[in-house]
Amino acid sequence: MLPAFLLPLLALTNITASPLAAHSIAAPTWYAGWHATGGFPLSSVSWDKYNTLYYSFAETTQSVNSLSLSGSDGEMLPQFVSEAHAHGVEAHIAVGGWSGGTVVDFALQYKLDGIQFDWESPNDQGIGCNTISVHDTANFLAFLQELRQNPVAAKLTLSAASRLGRTAGMPVDKIVLGVASYGHSFSVPPCDAFVSDTKTLAAYPTFNASNQPLGDAWDNTGSVDVCGVYEGSGGTFNFWGLIDNGFLTKEGKPADGIHYRYDTCSQTPYVYNRTSQVMISFDNVQSFAAKGKYIKDTKLRGFSMWEAGGDYNDMLLDSIIDAFKCA
Ligand SMILES: *[C@@H]1O[C@H](CO)[C@@H](O)[C@H](O)[C@H]1NC(C)=O
Ligand SMILES: *[C@@H]1O[C@H](CO)[C@@H](O)[C@H](O)[C@H]1NC(C)=O
Repeated sequence: MLPAFLLPLLALTNITASPLAAHSIAAPTWYAGWHATGGFPLSSVSWDKYNTLYYSFAETTQSVNSLSLSGSDGEMLPQFVSEAHAHGVEAHIAVGGWSGGTVVDFALQYKLDGIQFDWESPNDQGIGCNTISVHDTANFLAFLQELRQNPVAAKLTLSAASRLGRTAGMPVDKIVLGVASYGHSFSVPPCDAFVSDTKTLAAYPTFNASNQPLGDAWDNTGSVDVCGVYEGSGGTFNFWGLIDNGFLTKEGKPADGIHYRYDTCSQTPYVYNRTSQVMISFDNVQSFAAKGKYIKDTKLRGFSMWEAGGDYNDMLLDSIIDAFKCA
């Protein structure tokens, strides 16, 4: 399940790995455990291009004393931690909120360097059957403050994935920008896709929300969620999936017969296949470079990508890192 993150907040990160070290940027990025067997094993990770990786996800359970790694090939977590450490990369676990003692025990058990809280919607229904409260945000803060009091947790790097919001008093140098190595598909008929009588793609066309095109090989065709509600496919295309499915060439350029537009307002591209009527809004090398420049100009702490396995030959990762090179 993709977190709909926009702006993860980073508390503190040690920067050890090159080439990030040279530019003093933090690049904590999610590693989705369940994709290890889907084409992105640990051996595919470009360890030298990250300083922190988040193993995703540990999930809360009915018991405040335990959490579950069952959805994320959790037996791989010890190897993930030791490989990360061997490469000078911090290993964190991404998890929802649960009791402070459990967090500390879990961090000790797996020799983790930090915890990333992926509770992005306090007091928001989210998947549909969560218990919510107007006190969620205050309780979350109280929980983090209590956790910090613990001598073990005091040494952990704590971070949270959060929605974009006016702000909360978080210093700019503790914020990393969430960036996506995936795009989203929409069903758009040709009459809406193009500016009238042209081959130019229209800006922000209407789309048929009840016809969600299936994404790439990592997308699901639809299933019943934990709340017992049927959810259709996500329509997610990873960057490699856009290449796999013929929208982009291996160089990341629009393929022959694919319509392309780079929206200068959002500074993101989109592609369109007129035959299948599938339009995909995504990020490419150009938009990642723009995001890197934004981070540099605004003096944010760095970036955080969902997910490491979505990239193709590190094209997105290299592009955003290159933006920090001196002109
Ligand atoms: C939208 O998609 C649904 C499902 O495929 C289809 O039944 C419906 O006719 C479409 N609506 C329009 C306006 O094309
Ligand atoms: C566009 O979609 C059609 C129908 O799915 C497919 O046959 C064709 O190969 C696609 N075009 C490109 C350029 O990928």
